[in-house]
Amino acid sequence: MSVRTAAASVAVATLLGACVSMPSAHAQSPSAQGSPVVYAHRGASAYAPENTLAAVDAADRLGIDWVENDVQLTRDGVLVVVHDTTLSRTTDAEEVFPGRAPWAVKDFTAAEIAKLDAGSWFGARFAGARVPTLTQYLHRLERNHQKLLLEIKSPEIYPGIEKETLRVLRREGWLDRSRVEHGLVVQSFGAESVKTVHALRPDVVTGFLGTPAVADLPSYAAFTDQINPSYTSVGPDYVAAVQKLKGAHGKPLRVNTWTVNDAADASRMAGFGVDGIITNNPDVVRDATG
Ligand code: G3P
Ligand code: CA
Repeated sequence: MSVRTAAASVAVATLLGACVSMPSAHAQSPSAQGSPVVYAHRGASAYAPENTLAAVDAADRLGIDWVENDVQLTRDGVLVVVHDTTLSRTTDAEEVFPGRAPWAVKDFTAAEIAKLDAGSWFGARFAGARVPTLTQYLHRLERNHQKLLLEIKSPEIYPGIEKETLRVLRREGWLDRSRVEHGLVVQSFGAESVKTVHALRPDVVTGFLGTPAVADLPSYAAFTDQINPSYTSVGPDYVAAVQKLKGAHGKPLRVNTWTVNDAADASRMAGFGVDGIITNNPDVVRDATG
């Protein structure tokens, strides 16, 4: 990073309220070298429509602390929690707004998205579930005393999404020291996005989604604390190679693997020594991994 870039990062970080010096504590919730931490993927999405408040509550009812979600920006700059970059699969957007193909999230306002039914596709009893804003989502996590693994989805489509995400997190108290230390990780498939989050808020724990070559891991360790790969792409040697390195906060890099939905795969991943498992079926994975 050039001096000028570093100075600019510090200026923006200060605006975002960052403690610019790196705090020593970091809350990657402990796997304690025992059972992997279980993350409810898009909420407990085997039991309720993904990325809705119902899926957050389903995870809570199962006693799962950590919830993963996906965040994107609407046309009017509101952060909403939805996985696909289009609304077709998980809402009734095509019926409610015919003629708006391809029903891209970025082409709709927050008010329009708030009208959509994001539950019926999953089951009649979820009819009327909404696509939550990130703010609504954070409030539900707070009510349930849950923690957040937040994915910035498709950051290349949304310039500035990192800054806006951090702005909302800060406004809602999610960048307070206790949450930063114990209850928040920001991850993305976009390395530049993860780097940006790290530059803006060096205290926030970050994760890179993917399986970088072992030789490239040191360059990732400069800006991230976790390497989070598909479970189909890793073996025990890869997990060990990641964990041997220290991440952006001087602690061993962690491995949270996805999306593991059955007991046999979960046991296998636990045997590989992963730190966390991201799953649609958190009860199954918890039971399988002890
Ligand atoms: O958190 C890991 C996982 O969510 C990445 O894949 O496509 O489900 O967002 P995806
Ligand atoms: Ca995700």
